[in-house]
Amino acid sequence: METIGFIGAGTTGTALAVRLSQKGCPVVAVSSRTLASAQKLAGLVPGCRVYDTAQELADAVDLVFITTPDDAIAMVCRQVSWRAGQSVVHCSGAHSVNILEPARELGAAVGSMHPLQTFADVSQAVENLPGSTFALEAEDPLLSRLKDLASLLNGKWVELRPGQKVLYHAAAVFACNYLITLVKLSLDLWHEFGILPQEGTQALLPLLEGTINNIRTIGLPGCLTGPIARGDLGTIQRHLSALEATDTALLSTYQELGLQTIPIAIAKGKVDGQRADEMRALLMRAESFADRDSEGAERPRSLATLNSGRCLNAPNSHHYVQSDNKGGKK
Ligand SMILES: NC(=O)c1ccc[n+]([C@@H]2O[C@H](COP(=O)([O-])OP(=O)(O)OC[C@H]3O[C@@H](n4cnc5c(N)ncnc54)[C@H](OP(=O)(O)O)[C@@H]3O)[C@@H](O)[C@H]2O)c1
Repeated sequence: METIGFIGAGTTGTALAVRLSQKGCPVVAVSSRTLASAQKLAGLVPGCRVYDTAQELADAVDLVFITTPDDAIAMVCRQVSWRAGQSVVHCSGAHSVNILEPARELGAAVGSMHPLQTFADVSQAVENLPGSTFALEAEDPLLSRLKDLASLLNGKWVELRPGQKVLYHAAAVFACNYLITLVKLSLDLWHEFGILPQEGTQALLPLLEGTINNIRTIGLPGCLTGPIARGDLGTIQRHLSALEATDTALLSTYQELGLQTIPIAIAKGKVDGQRADEMRALLMRAESFADRDSEGAERPRSLATLNSGRCLNAPNSHHYVQSDNKGGKK
């Protein structure tokens, strides 16, 4: 069986090395910027030897994973004298396989194998890796080999054609990174009624888990709930008014996401075209939301009457402030 080595002993490299080794793949070599990181990875993988340089590692194995940060991949690739019959693979989601052109020119087979997963630290990466989807770019026979490795890790794969990688990665940013941003925005609003981020996070987790569960079991569009799914203009109007008074940056995010949510509500079938147009008009309205009700009629600007008596008319900041243990702001 071909021998495998890793250049870059960080979270992704260590997770792949540990899990592939556990599945019987001969992960026999590692090198990294620092000896300490390489030794740490080698300590987790039986039979894995530490090499001082990327060149020595490349000379010793058949399949090399470059698992450095994205910005170092091209430099590492250029530094090594690759050989024909060898395979070189990177794990970046943003870069295409073309970044390995120097290796291809020297006769090596090149590919990319991006785990569609979030790795915050090594132990969590080792835990989360199995079952992930992998985005693969390569030509056979390397492509087939990467599919085998994905299967060994209980994963699925998608094959990407040249030019598709950047949009693929932007999509991952929406589903992963911006989900965290949305939780943070939600916690900013909880802060407005005096609840600390840690407490708020605990409160939101069952909601987040329920949402993920509904995506898994019901799927889109059926899993969408909430005022836009119901076509509930009055509630949307109240949200807009309250957000306008609290934080205009959050208001524009709410408007944009609301507009993106309308097609899901239509697809779910609970909202007809006319109600969708009304929601769109409400969300796109430029003038003050607080001055009009959901039918568009003028009304007094009284935030205290919004949100069932809970007034969000707080200072225009959503940064966390120190609080006492009972959640009260200092
Ligand atoms: N983290 C994720 O969620 C995730 C998910 C999917 C894909 N990826 C991809 O996986 C790759 C690695 O990301 P990561 O998050 O695992 O990064 P990371 O934890 O920062 O690890 C990168 C490792 O590369 C080493 N390194 C840096 N420059 C080097 C060089 N010039 N030569 C040799 N080694 C070098 C560092 O070594 P020292 O420790 O020795 O300094 C570090 O251990 C990236 O392409 C990334 O896009 C990451």
